[in-house]
Amino acid sequence: MGLFSKDIKSMDDLFVHTLQDIYYAENQMVKSLPEMIDKATDPQLEQALQSHLRETENHVRRLEQAFRLQGIEAKGVDCPAIDGIIEEAEDVAGEVDDKSVLDAALIAAAQAVEHYEITRYGSLIAWAAQLGRSDVGTLLQQNLDEEKAADKKLTTLAKGKVNRKAA
Ligand SMILES: [Fe+2]
Ligand SMILES: [Fe+2]
Repeated sequence: MGLFSKDIKSMDDLFVHTLQDIYYAENQMVKSLPEMIDKATDPQLEQALQSHLRETENHVRRLEQAFRLQGIEAKGVDCPAIDGIIEEAEDVAGEVDDKSVLDAALIAAAQAVEHYEITRYGSLIAWAAQLGRSDVGTLLQQNLDEEKAADKKLTTLAKGKVNRKAA
């Protein structure tokens, strides 16, 4: 998408572009989560990230199904937002020595990702309804529900013990 080319001409185009954006983001997370799992020390945090990795792989599959339903090829577009969140998470993790503090940092980074995904899915679901694509909307809603549940689980972990151990 160029600055002057104006490739997004309609709501349909915007919908597809954003679908490609979240498809790229989900694929980036399939690559990044294993590194975060490696860095985590708390066993419950490790397990939460592990189970969200499996969900994330499934998010990619659901998005592929969403592309298929619309008769378009599944492909991603660069998403500087998710790249930035991941890059910042890696930078911060590299600066943290203490294992418990690192766990707290990993939770904060993972939640930044969840919130990004939640905002994208929220818009996509509203647009799918507007465009009369409830079939696609249903798939996106399943992803959104799992992002919200993952976010909640991370909050519980942080408040329950990780932050306390780190403080
Ligand atoms: Fe996801
Ligand atoms: Fe997620």
